[in-house]
Amino acid sequence: MRCSIQSIGLAAALLASAVSAQTFQRLGTCPTLGCVFPPDQADFLAGQYFDIRLEVHAPKNGSEAIGLPPDEKFTFTIARGNETAKPVTEFFKLEEPKLEKWNFTWYEDLFAKDAKQPSVVDVTSKAYRRVALYEPGEYTATLSYNNGSTTTATWLVRDLVEERKAKNIIFFIGDGMTTNMITAARLIGHKTINGKYQSLMQLDKFPVLGHQMTHSIDSFITDSANSASALYTGHKSSVNALGVYADSSKNPFDDPKVETIAEIFHRLTGGLVGIVSTAFIADATPAALTAHTRDRNQYGHVVDTFLNGITNYTWTKWDGPDVLFGGGAEQFYNSTLGGKTYQDKDYYEEFAKKGYKIVLNNTQLQAASSNEKTLGIFSTSVMSKWLDRNVYKVNLNQTLSPTGDKTAALDQPGLKEMTLKAIDILHNRAGDKGFFLMSEAASIDKMMHVLDYDRALGELLELDDTVKATVKKIQDLGCEKETLILVSSDHGHGFDVMGSVDTKYFAAQKEDRKKRNAVGVYQNSGLSQYTNTGNLTYTDSNFPSNWSPRYTLFQGLMADPDRRETWSVHKDGPRKPAAELVKDSGDVYVNPKDGQGGLLLNGTLPLSDEQGVHSLTDVAVFAQGPCQETFGGVYNSIDIFFKMAECFGLARGKA
Ligand SMILES: *[C@@H]1O[C@H](CO)[C@@H](O)[C@H](O)[C@H]1NC(C)=O
Ligand SMILES: *[C@@H]1O[C@H](CO)[C@@H](O)[C@H](O)[C@H]1NC(C)=O
Ligand SMILES: *[C@@H]1O[C@H](CO)[C@@H](O)[C@H](O)[C@H]1NC(C)=O
Ligand SMILES: *[C@@H]1O[C@H](CO)[C@@H](O)[C@H](O)[C@H]1NC(C)=O
Ligand SMILES: *[C@@H]1O[C@H](CO)[C@@H](O)[C@H](O)[C@H]1NC(C)=O
Ligand SMILES: *[C@@H]1O[C@H](CO)[C@@H](O)[C@H](O)[C@H]1NC(C)=O
Ligand SMILES: *[C@@H]1O[C@H](CO)[C@@H](O)[C@H](O)[C@H]1NC(C)=O
Ligand SMILES: *[C@@H]1O[C@H](CO)[C@@H](O)[C@H](O)[C@H]1NC(C)=O
Ligand SMILES: *[C@@H]1O[C@H](CO)[C@@H](O)[C@H](O)[C@H]1NC(C)=O
Ligand SMILES: *[C@@H]1O[C@H](CO)[C@@H](O)[C@H](O)[C@H]1NC(C)=O
Ligand SMILES: [Zn+2]
Repeated sequence: MRCSIQSIGLAAALLASAVSAQTFQRLGTCPTLGCVFPPDQADFLAGQYFDIRLEVHAPKNGSEAIGLPPDEKFTFTIARGNETAKPVTEFFKLEEPKLEKWNFTWYEDLFAKDAKQPSVVDVTSKAYRRVALYEPGEYTATLSYNNGSTTTATWLVRDLVEERKAKNIIFFIGDGMTTNMITAARLIGHKTINGKYQSLMQLDKFPVLGHQMTHSIDSFITDSANSASALYTGHKSSVNALGVYADSSKNPFDDPKVETIAEIFHRLTGGLVGIVSTAFIADATPAALTAHTRDRNQYGHVVDTFLNGITNYTWTKWDGPDVLFGGGAEQFYNSTLGGKTYQDKDYYEEFAKKGYKIVLNNTQLQAASSNEKTLGIFSTSVMSKWLDRNVYKVNLNQTLSPTGDKTAALDQPGLKEMTLKAIDILHNRAGDKGFFLMSEAASIDKMMHVLDYDRALGELLELDDTVKATVKKIQDLGCEKETLILVSSDHGHGFDVMGSVDTKYFAAQKEDRKKRNAVGVYQNSGLSQYTNTGNLTYTDSNFPSNWSPRYTLFQGLMADPDRRETWSVHKDGPRKPAAELVKDSGDVYVNPKDGQGGLLLNGTLPLSDEQGVHSLTDVAVFAQGPCQETFGGVYNSIDIFFKMAECFGLARGKA
């Protein structure tokens, strides 16, 4: 039986129910005063490295204060199955680490926050670094503190599967992508006749479809950092955390780490790793492959870990990815050019020193040989969107050059160009060792956040086009029997399409209430005008031929700031629907410049939110290749890690 956290201590037992499951938490995953990380219910791959962090909380005031001093004598034991529990130092043959002490404050609820009355907690703590469990089965980890209280965590080491079935895994992540978005993208990108599609998306052709649950460990809505951590490590995490369980200390780098699929794969097999994203490359989804910090905004740390791995602690073997492609030059060039990097180093130079070829535009990318480790950085921050690179090109005219010289980045590759080149390099350099490639369509999420539905769907269609080209390339290379291709997401947004909008009638109405009659629902939704009419520039590909037909999609999100909707493509670049009219006021209104002539719609989000937010929905998992059958059905996000690790045969029964 797997148990839930038990609190037997007198005072703690009385108080535990007061704090669990509330929206303001003292520390996520630690409802009692004794915290064990990895916490109860954690699953491990046999042989996966991880750190242990123990904390004992002594609340000084607030509803949990029990008047006990911080406990400096807590003990921690581990038992495998029904064997006798051993002290952790004996179990792992470790030295006893030194006791750490700190304090932190938190708000118990919104009333306390409004009143600026934080509760203060003193903490005593120990961390045991880089351990691993090799024998499958259940383990009981017990923290004893405050003279009689215990916190028990049941850990499960999953079964050993050491046989390798896939040589390569290519894992596509459509950040924020839901099935609703895929359906909408299909509608605008593919033509129908009498209700029947004349062509399909590549995603529609995958043999296996599953669903994964995206929740965080301590909140039911996730961000991209902790969902990526779950997908890559098999351990759920907290909002903003990358490859760690979030502890309560002030240092963002000392949280207990868990080893990622990229790290384990490389350490055990020498296989190569490729990382591709249309975001700035230090952003959460790419970062979670190598970074280990509670704070996803530590971009300098993230870029350093891509190259050097974890240097602050003894950790895993890491030689850098063979391919790193994306945006985010401002995290590579130093402050001389206006960038911000770890120790103000020039990371183009740091990568070059370690033998990387560096490319800064698509021409150079295409010309690069497939024999070298390659860093490709193509814009200062997030890369330009498919719609701007291909249709509204004038929007590329911004100071986005990855050289930092404040010129425009007119020659940016798309996800497809980056991914195909990455496969060339990885395939060529990996030989028999194989590779793991993560390729992220980041701006599906970024454009949904700013309610720019057209750009988001353009990014989704670009992802599908990239997957299509990848499937073909893998076939051309003769690698389809040994390459698992996965396409999934990390979370959703509450997006859907409910009908159409007659933009001509909409524009002709003077009164806002009348404008609503331009919306056509049910039989008046009509048919998609994006493929069947207008400028047929893109008829041969999987994209709309006309992005601004008269009849557009009546589409939107569940949760918004104040905004003005026109339901028309934003031709002058990505949208900014809402803004603080008074800087730092935390009070957001409709952006006066956005959606001129549109319908003012009031928001439902908290007043400080300028953008839409993530939602609860399960997300799809498409699989094709070896082990594809294991990806059908409904499962948790962490299972993706275990399924990939199993397909690569990465579990190890001994050190
Ligand atoms: C411990 O578990 C094993 C396997 O489940 C079982 O065979 C054994 O009898 C158990 N021993 C005790 C002392 O309960
Ligand atoms: C927290 O710890 C610091 C450093 O030990 C100390 O200066 C400070 O007074 C403590 N804060 C509270 C509220 O106890
Ligand atoms: C706890 O103590 C701190 C100062 O030590 C104070 O600022 C805070 O308001 C107190 N909180 C509560 C909930 O009493
Ligand atoms: C711990 O609890 C026992 C029994 O409840 C009591 O006799 C003892 O004095 C306590 N020790 C401390 C350090 O509080
Ligand atoms: C290592 O930790 C220190 C502080 O603990 C921090 O300042 C530094 O940035 C960390 N190094 C890296 C490479 O993240
Ligand atoms: C920034 O990097 C350049 C090399 O690209 C170097 O010449 C310069 O000294 C660095 N600036 C700082 C502040 O370290
Ligand atoms: C690409 O970058 C190279 C090197 O910086 C530069 O010489 C070339 O002009 C660039 N090409 C384009 C099309 O921007
Ligand atoms: C690019 O932008 C600059 C400044 O905004 C403007 O002067 C220039 O005409 C633009 N060029 C093109 C080709 O649109
Ligand atoms: C169609 O697109 C092409 C290329 O973007 C453009 O030159 C042409 O003017 C467009 N035609 C119409 C009718 O919009
Ligand atoms: C509706 O939105 C407008 C524009 O942001 C704002 O001025 C107004 O206060 C909002 N009304 C409500 C009830 O929030
Ligand atoms: Zn997001």
